Amino acid sequence: MTDTSPTVYVETYGCQMNVSDSELMLGNLAAHGYVAVDHPDGADVILVNTCAIREHAETRVIGRLGELRRNMKPGAIVGVTGCMAQRLGPQLLEKAKHVSVVIGPDGYRALPALIDGARRGERAIATTFDLEEHYEDFTPRRFDKVKAWIPVQRGCDYKCTYCIVPTTRGPERSRKLLDVVRETEAVVAEGMSEVVLLGQTVNSYDDGEFDFADLLRAVGRVDGVRRIRFTSPYPNDFTDRVIAAMGEVDAVCEHVHLPMQSGSSRVLKRMLRRYNREGFIESVAKLRAGIPGLSLTTDVIVGFPGETDEDFEETLDVVREVGFAEAFTFKFSPRAGTPATRMPAELTVSDEVASERLARLVDTIRTIARAANMRELGRRYEVLVEKEARRGGDLVQARTRDFKTVLIPGDAALIGRYLNVELTGTTGSTFTGQIVRERQPLPMAG
Ligand code: 5AD
Repeated sequence: MTDTSPTVYVETYGCQMNVSDSELMLGNLAAHGYVAVDHPDGADVILVNTCAIREHAETRVIGRLGELRRNMKPGAIVGVTGCMAQRLGPQLLEKAKHVSVVIGPDGYRALPALIDGARRGERAIATTFDLEEHYEDFTPRRFDKVKAWIPVQRGCDYKCTYCIVPTTRGPERSRKLLDVVRETEAVVAEGMSEVVLLGQTVNSYDDGEFDFADLLRAVGRVDGVRRIRFTSPYPNDFTDRVIAAMGEVDAVCEHVHLPMQSGSSRVLKRMLRRYNREGFIESVAKLRAGIPGLSLTTDVIVGFPGETDEDFEETLDVVREVGFAEAFTFKFSPRAGTPATRMPAELTVSDEVASERLARLVDTIRTIARAANMRELGRRYEVLVEKEARRGGDLVQARTRDFKTVLIPGDAALIGRYLNVELTGTTGSTFTGQIVRERQPLPMAG
């Protein structure tokens, strides 16, 4: 690389799949002579990799695009990529005159060419789905040095009525098992020992030959892999084969993020989720039986059209019954073109009611998590150190296999290391811990 190499800055919004896509885009651009920078000012190319899941995600990006315009270097090329790019396409070019490249999730191969075109004054859109596209020949440029995001499936074939993702990411397709194994081997060679397999309904993985159970076993056989996670599975797509693989493959961690969305069968039906309240609880029971020590987290939407007080109480009931370690909670956000927006207007839940429910839900989850976490004090866990703690003060952030966040004293030198810690304190959601020195094993008696 010379000083004249063009520079590129990528800002990522939304889910882990988007982080992974950003890594692929940067990899592709690096292969075309670009150098990644971590600040937008002065960059030759600025990419905003966007999310469309809720309205708020999009308004943030619109605001951010304005901000970038004011501060960017004159002549910089601005591209909008990802789900919002796919959803809005030409509207983005109309609304934001400084944007010259708009690329959806299947179009990143065209990125270098479209940037070249933009230099010549062209403005272009690439939003065609490509069911063959897995970017196999790209070498991702990874942001994280400890865990590797590995996409195993792109798109989504489910039709949840609230969700924009099938529109923005297209039909579901799985990557070949051997390609996933090859990428796993590559990240281990780079020194990483944790992989996170990504897909919209990752446990429905099917490459035509192998299912998700095969995939877990194959990735688990890669020498040097100590932790396997995956996100996000669909609650009742856990087959007995998959649960057996989870239990038997040592590296598969004892944590599943299991998006519930609602605890009311009536609401689940209207969401077109393929399970009811009992089905969800049954999936939880099967998972817990197969994977001792399993911790569960979830996503819940409140204020979905037609959700009554009674429905909401059922959600609270299931939340209490399952005892999630953590939950991501959202107010329903209508997304243009999704079936939920065509439901009768009288089913709309007012923002006031939705806000009230959200607050009660958050409170319920916190109370349960806090009580569970208090019981953990004094226990010992193996953690993997991920990064320096955000709040600073000579602390690093580490995770247990079951996804507890533990802050421990130490500096960047510990990043990537496995340590045994004792949990010494909790804020209610995260922990503080102390490193436990292992005693040397006693010599065997002769
Ligand atoms: N409104 C609110 N939340 C949504 N999610 C998906 N679509 C919407 C929507 N229209 C939530 C779901 C999903 C998470 C990623 O985002 O809970 O699991």
